[in-house]
Amino acid sequence: MLSGTDRAALGRCLGLPTGMPRAGQPRRSAPLLDILAGVTSPQRAPGGFPVVGIIGGGQLARMCAAPAAELAITLSVLAEAPDAAAALVVPSSPVGDHRDVEAVRAFARECDVVTFDHEHVPPDVLAALEADGVALHPSPSALVYAQDKLAMRHKLTEIDVACPAWAQARTVADVEAFAEQVGWPFVAKTPRGGYDGKGVRVVASVDELSDWLAQAESDAAQGSGPLRDGILLEEKVDFVRELAVLVARSPSDQAAAWPVVETVQTDGICAEVLAPAPDLHPHLAAVATEAGLRIAENLGVTGVFAVEMFEVRDPETGGPAYVVNELAMRPHNSGHWSMDGAVTGQFEQHLRAVLDLPLGAPAPREPFTVMANVLGGDYPELYPAYRHIMARDPGLKVHLYGKGVRPGRKIGHVNVSGSDLGDLRERAGHAADYLSGVITE
Ligand SMILES: Nc1ncnc2c1ncn2[C@@H]1O[C@H](COP(=O)(O)OP(=O)(O)O)[C@@H](O)[C@H]1O
Ligand SMILES: [Mg+2]
Repeated sequence: MLSGTDRAALGRCLGLPTGMPRAGQPRRSAPLLDILAGVTSPQRAPGGFPVVGIIGGGQLARMCAAPAAELAITLSVLAEAPDAAAALVVPSSPVGDHRDVEAVRAFARECDVVTFDHEHVPPDVLAALEADGVALHPSPSALVYAQDKLAMRHKLTEIDVACPAWAQARTVADVEAFAEQVGWPFVAKTPRGGYDGKGVRVVASVDELSDWLAQAESDAAQGSGPLRDGILLEEKVDFVRELAVLVARSPSDQAAAWPVVETVQTDGICAEVLAPAPDLHPHLAAVATEAGLRIAENLGVTGVFAVEMFEVRDPETGGPAYVVNELAMRPHNSGHWSMDGAVTGQFEQHLRAVLDLPLGAPAPREPFTVMANVLGGDYPELYPAYRHIMARDPGLKVHLYGKGVRPGRKIGHVNVSGSDLGDLRERAGHAADYLSGVITE
């Protein structure tokens, strides 16, 4: 795909108008330019169906493909590479860099709405899209709270949502002051760019933060970098378990919430999701769901929205309570169970929400669904494993992402639904471990 600058230059040579359409004008590119630039427009289904653009070609974009096909919605994906997970299944997957303003603008011109596979699109790119009148879901003003954990903590505290004790630290003195307050060890996080536990550290002394403090100083001096506003410090929460609340909200302010789930992490990576969270106190389920819906509305989130929480004991009553860990504004690993376990899966719901269609029912189909993530192991050949796991368990639903195997990389997940939670966990765990190569029978 040519960059926007190349396209503009090509247009000038040919004497064609190259200006961007203004807000309110239809975003249609000149077909001749597109053909000459090698850009093929996404093919719409006849009957007035829209094109949903997704920036980023990872597994979340990929898993939108099946419900999009069912609904005759065309997807277009701005992919990192021709073999990105989503590019393998979405015919319109131009390759482009989500940090390249002109590439993203050219991509967005072909779409009716634009949404995201990840949260890494920089603010200047988002601002350019907004100025072009692109319908972005979630909007940049909401997305910032999923991109920046410090901004998230400030905002949640402002709207009175329960959080762990936290502080913003730029200096050794800031770190020591926080240690005075909560004691060692505590948790330090890079506000931007972390995922799957990367960018999260449990620290027991100032020395263990000296590299981040040095980086914070240089990032601040340059006005860029993940630590430019400092480090996020949080008390180390002594949680009972981790929960997630998943909701969808549409621009018309319709919202729907799936049941609260339990997420089980290993080494900072989600390994298993139990839906709904077993033995969750009904009051906690209600207040956690209410918090998810309230945050979505306060922050103006559109699309699927996940709130990661810790279940804790209320220090005053000893009863079950929650504090919020972090926010994600896109379909989320904690919602993969819904693809098979709910009337409306999160990927279909995300498409409905970003298109401002009425939302689907989030009700579970069975008493429980267990999702187990498949992490890359030592075996690059995954397909031969199908024969064994499918024969062992005809009720198993397998989702692999078409990604190359790398140790620890999320390459797929499995879902199993039913009523016997112990049995479901064994079956999901077995299949995930077999695919990962952890077990061989
Ligand atoms: N304040 C905390 N106290 C205890 N454990 C934490 C805290 N913050 C994070 N963790 C653990 O680290 C995991 C990853 O942290 P998180 O902030 O969710 O980062 P990521 O963006 O990598 O998902 C969490 O799921 C939880 O298991
Ligand atoms: Mg997390």
